[in-house]
Amino acid sequence: MSNLTVNATKASNIAKAKNELVVIPLFAEEPLAATGAQVNDALSGVIERAIAIGDAEAKLGKTTVMVGSESISRVMTIGCGSRTRFDQNAMTTVTSAVARALSGSKAKSAVFVADTIAENKAQLSTFLEFLSRDVAMSCYHYTATLGSPKPGPALRKLSVATDTLLSSAKVKQAVTTGLAIGNGANLTRELVNLPANVCTPSYLAKEGRALGRRFEKLSVSILDEKKMGELGMGSLLSVGHGSDEPSKLIVMKYSGGATKDAPYCLVGKGITFDTGGISLKPSKGMESMKFDMGGAGSVFGVMQTVASLDLDINVIGVVAAAENMPSGCATKPGDVVTSMSGKTIEILNTDAEGRLVLCDALTYVERFKPAEVVDIATLTGAIIVALGYEASGLFANDDGLAQSLTEAGLASGDEAWRLPINKQYDKQLNSKYADMQNIGTGSAGSITAACFLARFTEKYKWAHLDVAGTAFQSMQKGATGRPVPLLVEYLRKKSSH
Ligand code: BES
Ligand code: MN
Ligand code: ZN
Repeated sequence: MSNLTVNATKASNIAKAKNELVVIPLFAEEPLAATGAQVNDALSGVIERAIAIGDAEAKLGKTTVMVGSESISRVMTIGCGSRTRFDQNAMTTVTSAVARALSGSKAKSAVFVADTIAENKAQLSTFLEFLSRDVAMSCYHYTATLGSPKPGPALRKLSVATDTLLSSAKVKQAVTTGLAIGNGANLTRELVNLPANVCTPSYLAKEGRALGRRFEKLSVSILDEKKMGELGMGSLLSVGHGSDEPSKLIVMKYSGGATKDAPYCLVGKGITFDTGGISLKPSKGMESMKFDMGGAGSVFGVMQTVASLDLDINVIGVVAAAENMPSGCATKPGDVVTSMSGKTIEILNTDAEGRLVLCDALTYVERFKPAEVVDIATLTGAIIVALGYEASGLFANDDGLAQSLTEAGLASGDEAWRLPINKQYDKQLNSKYADMQNIGTGSAGSITAACFLARFTEKYKWAHLDVAGTAFQSMQKGATGRPVPLLVEYLRKKSSH
C-alpha cells in the first residue's frame, strides 16, 4: 500500500556512510551525543550552528532540515522536548512530525538515529513501532481514480539506527509490527477513500475474498441477499431495498489460535453510500457519505494486520455492506421490519440505517460464541457534536471490555471515550407499532443509537465504537485509518506475542 520498507541498522555506521537524509533527535536537557555528535562532526558542526542561531530546536515536534555534505545529503533534527516528559504522547508527536517531514522530502531513503531516543527496552520498541507505523501512513497516497496520478512521497526506505539496548531481532520485530499496523491503516484508508460507484458492497466482498487468498489462516465467505433472507435478516435487507447494488454480508475468519479458543468478533458498518434513503439527506456535503463504510474499512485493515502479525488468537471480522438509496422500492418511514433476532423494528427514519444493518450482523455473530464483540460504525452525526474529531465514542455492556478498549486507545494514540447506555435513554426507543423504533425522540442521538444496538447484544460482551468523527476528516483530507491502531492494540493484548 505504501511501498515503504523499514530495516534495522547499527548507529555506529551512520556518520561515515553515504545517506540521503539522517534524522537526529534533540532533547532539551542534553547536548548532541553519540551518533548525533558524530554526524555533527562529520558535517563540520552544522547542527551545532543551527542550534546556536535558533533554527534547530528541542521544542517538541519541531523539525529542521539542513543541507549536509556530499556524503550525508541532508540532516533533519527533530525536537523531542524534555527527557523527563518523553511519554507516549510526546513520542507520537515526534513520530508523526518526522513522518510528515519525511513524506514532504525528496529523499528516497532516510535513517533515523535512535541510539539515544529511549532509556529502556520497552520505550525503544514502542518508539520504533510508532515511527514505522507513522512513516508508512505518511507515505500513503491516493491515486486509484486519477487519470494522471501525481507523484506521491519519494521515500521508499526507512532505516532505524540503534546501539545495543535492543537486540537486532527485537528492533526488527518492532519495526515490522509498526509497518503492519501502518499498512493495515492504509488499506482502510484506500477502501474508505474510494468513491461509492467503485466501492460497492460487491466490491467490498471481492476485497474480502482477495484478503482471504493472501493469508493461509484467513478464510472468507460471502452471504448474498438470498442467504440473508433465509436467515431472516429483514432489518439488514431493508436498507438495500432501494438500491440496485445487492447487499452483502462478508465474513472473514482468522484462525491463529486453538480451535477451542473463543473468537474476538469485529463487526463493521459498511454503508458504501448513505443518501439517507427516503428520509433524504440535504445535497450539500452528501458526497462525504461515501465514507459511511469507515467501520467496515477498519475491519479489513485490522484483519490484514492481525494476519500479517500472525497473532495466536481467533478473530472473526464481519462486514454488513449495503447502499442506502431512495427509489420506488425503498423502505418508507413507518415501515416495520423483522430482524434476525425476531424483534420487529419500526423504521421512522430511513437515515438511521447503520443500526439496521448492524443489528442483524450482531445477531449473526452469536453463532460463533464470541469471547467479545466490538462493532465499529460511522453511526451518528451526534457523536461529532459530543466528542468532535478527536476521540471515537465508546459504548459497552461490559466494564472490562470498555476498559481494555480505552487503554488500547491511549497506548496507540488512537483514543476512545466512553459514554453511557442505560434504561433512561433506552426508553426513547419504545414504539406503538413494533418492538422498537429505529430513532430516539430527539436528545442524545449517539447514546440512543448505541441503546438500539445493545438490545441485540445481550448474549455476549459487546462494545460499540462510533467513529463518525474519527474515521475521516473531510473530503479533502480523506480517511484517517482510525480506529485500526486501537483495535490492533486491543487484539495484541489478547495474543501471547
Ligand atoms: N452515516 C450517518 C452518520 C454520520 C453523519 C456519519 C456525519 C459521518 C458524518 C448516519 O447513518 C446517519 O445518517 N445518522 C443520523 C441519525 C438520525 C437520523 C437519528 C444522523 O446522525 O443525523
Ligand atoms: Mn444515515
Ligand atoms: Zn449512515
